[in-house]
Amino acid sequence: MKDKIEKILLENKIQFEFIPLPEELASDVKVHMKFHGNSMDRAMPNIVFKTNKGFIVAQRRGDTKIDSKKLKKLAGVSDLRVATEEELKDLNLAPGIVPPTGIDATYFMDNKIFEKDFVYSGTGDKLFAIKLNPIDLKEINKSTVGDFTTQEDFQVSNKIVFSGIQPSGNLHIGNYIGSLRQWVKGQDNGLNIFCIVDMHAITVAQDPKILREKTFELAAIYLAAGIDPEKSLIFVQSHNPDHANLGWVLNCFASMGQMQRMTQYKDKSEGKDFVSVGLFDYPVLMAGDILLYDTTEVPVGDDQKQHVELARDLGEKLNGKFGETFVLPKPVIPATGGRIMSLIDPTKKMSKSDANQNATIYLLDEPEIAKKKIMSATTDSGNEIKYDWENKPGISNLIEIYSELEGNSIKEIEQKFENKNYKEFKESVAEVVVNFLKDFQAKYNKVIESDLKKILDDGAQKAYKLSHPKLLEVYRKVGFIN
Ligand code: AMP
Ligand code: TRP
Repeated sequence: MKDKIEKILLENKIQFEFIPLPEELASDVKVHMKFHGNSMDRAMPNIVFKTNKGFIVAQRRGDTKIDSKKLKKLAGVSDLRVATEEELKDLNLAPGIVPPTGIDATYFMDNKIFEKDFVYSGTGDKLFAIKLNPIDLKEINKSTVGDFTTQEDFQVSNKIVFSGIQPSGNLHIGNYIGSLRQWVKGQDNGLNIFCIVDMHAITVAQDPKILREKTFELAAIYLAAGIDPEKSLIFVQSHNPDHANLGWVLNCFASMGQMQRMTQYKDKSEGKDFVSVGLFDYPVLMAGDILLYDTTEVPVGDDQKQHVELARDLGEKLNGKFGETFVLPKPVIPATGGRIMSLIDPTKKMSKSDANQNATIYLLDEPEIAKKKIMSATTDSGNEIKYDWENKPGISNLIEIYSELEGNSIKEIEQKFENKNYKEFKESVAEVVVNFLKDFQAKYNKVIESDLKKILDDGAQKAYKLSHPKLLEVYRKVGFIN
């Protein structure tokens, strides 16, 4: 089927692109919905109906529902039902992956599709979607165009991912390996929301000018890492007031004792002469971030696990008091790479805020500087390249960095460097890191020039659309009048 439609589209000189789909999504009617997550308005399902006048194909935007009365009227038929699997088979089709052209049927397109200059659709092959301009289809299918849908919320998927990073300090390869890369891997499935949490950043002192710069920088880093605004939602936390508003309500249900148990607060406040109430309270704001979107999964490093559990506890508490309101999220911690360690003290996590610049490889480090940092990284006694955190944390950390960036398994690396010394191994690690940084920075330099503001504005609008009904539901339940 895929080849057949490719032929039709090429013959008609129509621009299109095949988009590979991950295998595990298999073929089910919701494949494209899931795949496109937030971009349901970019999905175009093709539904085959059996009517008293034969088969018809109805094409609608994924965020809308067919009104069968209207469709009957437009098609001039008295009888209309969705084709059975058997009938689809006879047409050489499978449910959920019906292609947008090449079917022996009459085509109908809903007007709302044309608000988009491209949409994603099935191809008949469960491993590929197709991206094209619906206007072109209208021509080749000789479609009848009309209004036969009603708008539906675009949130259909069951997996909802939310995560965020603060736009403060400089992001490093630990953030990339432990967080960003995991996000990118997951974004083809479900609704994925990635926030730039500027309201969290001001829990410690920030220079306003630098905070503004860092906010754009982080947006560009998200994109350079591979977060695709067509698939995922990217926005700045302070652009959606619902976060602070839900945070306030949750504040009134979190107990002091519960908050005093947060270990990160203890670490971050230790030895400081000024500690803001915001720093103490920020896990509640974070709970609001997560609960607002019916989040099911929160991919974070292990330092955030306790905060996600707090979100769960608060969600559960309110559900108990007011009835089912929040979905309870779970933290998703990567099996490996969740803790990249400092190059200077490999028993400490690599961190944005390390005073020693040589401890951390920043994503925007000059590659030559990064190379020097690797070459001067602390190693252990002995001279064997062995993955052994207990006795060789320095070498183990470098092995892990190499493995995560290059894709080799730990075993393969140990074998490869069996007869090599530390210096030779470090040179290879440095090469891998330098190549990674060069590639990453080339992408970064490209996206920093693009219209980031527009992407962020768009994201915030969509985020608000998703979160606001939840906030209003909570307001109503606690007794606020509307
Ligand atoms: P932070 O740098 O603390 O703002 O954290 C941003 C995200 O990166 C969080 O999800 C952290 O868990 C993750 N992260 C921070 N440092 C590391 C590290 N050294 N290794 C792996 N993940 C990290
Ligand atoms: N607290 C997280 C950090 O400091 C950032 C964050 C804020 C977050 N809100 C979130 C992470 C919601 C996941 C989900 O790294």
